[in-house]
Amino acid sequence: MKVLVTGIAGFIGSRLGEHLIANHHEVVGVDSFVPYYDRTVKERNLDRLRELPGFAFHELDLRTEGIDDVIAPCDAVVHLAAMPGLTKSWADVDLYSSCNIVGTARVLDACERNQTGRLVHISTSSVYGRMATGDETSPLQPISPYGVTKLAAEHLVQSYVSERSVEAVVLRYYSVYGPRQRPDMAYHLFSEALLDGDPITVYGDGQQSRSNTFVDDCVHGTLQALLGATPGETYNIGGGEAISVLEAIEVLADAAGVDPVIEFKEARSGDQRITKADFSKAARTFDYEPRVGPDAGLRAQFAWHQQRRQR
Ligand SMILES: NC(=O)c1ccc[n+]([C@@H]2O[C@H](COP(=O)([O-])OP(=O)(O)OC[C@H]3O[C@@H](n4cnc5c(N)ncnc54)[C@H](O)[C@@H]3O)[C@@H](O)[C@H]2O)c1
Repeated sequence: MKVLVTGIAGFIGSRLGEHLIANHHEVVGVDSFVPYYDRTVKERNLDRLRELPGFAFHELDLRTEGIDDVIAPCDAVVHLAAMPGLTKSWADVDLYSSCNIVGTARVLDACERNQTGRLVHISTSSVYGRMATGDETSPLQPISPYGVTKLAAEHLVQSYVSERSVEAVVLRYYSVYGPRQRPDMAYHLFSEALLDGDPITVYGDGQQSRSNTFVDDCVHGTLQALLGATPGETYNIGGGEAISVLEAIEVLADAAGVDPVIEFKEARSGDQRITKADFSKAARTFDYEPRVGPDAGLRAQFAWHQQRRQR
């Protein structure tokens, strides 16, 4: 299969591209290097992919540039490109709306025009709001502009499914971690602080818990969904075991061999309290099963932070 991956230069997109090629698919990648974080980090994410046969890259902005030529030869699309991260979404709603809503609408239009076989649209547990502990029928009550734009994008996808014959599925990821994690994300910041001997900042009491998804489980589940999900349906893709922020710091500090110094700050608005993925629908439909638990996953991420300093 030839698969278009939008947001290929990002944390998850670059890993997904590698996973698809390892599974004998061709990958066409698109990214505009939105300066949410440093372009050099995203270029490094692409290093391995650029060496692989069966990979082509197009630098373009989905909000403004035509993608018909890129999408036409593809059998399927995984649409990851978006402005992620909820903190900044309070400060730049325009950027979040345009990337997450307008960008998605333009991908959907192009899928319709080119009769693309299948679209896997990537959404987030943030659409559920403060508590993300139930199944896909749980109330949708986002509490950040990020969550609101991602929910709007889901609704757009469903309108194209029902009114424009686009064959699409929606995956709601639960906070993803592992090698290449985005520089604004908690485990990335904790690991770098431990390596620098700096204090770790924790927002709130540190008891908030996450059933984080190790990136390899996430990309494996995405490929399974591409091949086996039911059109028009929505699936949670998460990790199995929940872990609190303080427990995660304990594992990372143990990997670093240091006693962490923690500075507590007031909880941030929009932060989720508990996420515990109910992924039973994905398990039933396409055998999704997370394989990497938090202890092994956090140690793998910390090892990546150590290794990249040695390069
Ligand atoms: N990382 C997580 O924990 C997590 C959790 C839930 C959902 N998600 C979703 O997964 C997807 C990928 O997240 P990530 O953590 O890899 O983020 P990322 O920022 O590392 O990757 C997203 C990529 O999309 C690109 N992009 C954004 N707008 C674009 C546009 N208009 N045109 C072309 N490219 C554009 C960016 O340049 C970036 O490289 C997002 O849709 C996000 O909402 C991520």
